[in-house]
Amino acid sequence: MSECTFAIIKPDAVKRKLAGKILQRIEAEGFTIRGMRLVHLSKKDAEGFYAVHRARPFFASLTEFMASGPAVVLVLEAPDAIKKWRTLMGATDPAKADAGTLRKEFAESIERNATHGSDAPETAAVEIAYFFRGVDLN
Ligand code: CMP
Repeated sequence: MSECTFAIIKPDAVKRKLAGKILQRIEAEGFTIRGMRLVHLSKKDAEGFYAVHRARPFFASLTEFMASGPAVVLVLEAPDAIKKWRTLMGATDPAKADAGTLRKEFAESIERNATHGSDAPETAAVEIAYFFRGVDLN
């Protein structure tokens, strides 16, 4: 069944001019891009987005990083999109990511890990709504 997931090409990847390469992989793997914007998050925006991680020791650093430059936010559609996108990204920590995954290829560290993806349908719905109005989805 076709579903939508939410994805981010994070500031580390945009800064290193990897957005095009990552978008190319997204399309080559069969995802349809339903929404796409370049956003520069404020610290508050990043804190709101990552609120579930508020108690983690890396929260301050993570939200600073996410507010450090522009990022590309995306809504991707495919059969089983949530799992498919997480597989394409690879493990959170690039040192543990499989060969051929985006994080293995492009991530600098567990924090500056190039991409984000929703982990469940409920999270995808909340994350999509955080960045996109219905009229901006195609
Ligand atoms: P993401 O998939 O966007 O979800 C939460 C983010 O927190 C994660 O990618 C990383 O960018 C970051 N993160 C997760 N674990 C750690 C960690 N141990 N140290 C620093 N950052 C982390």
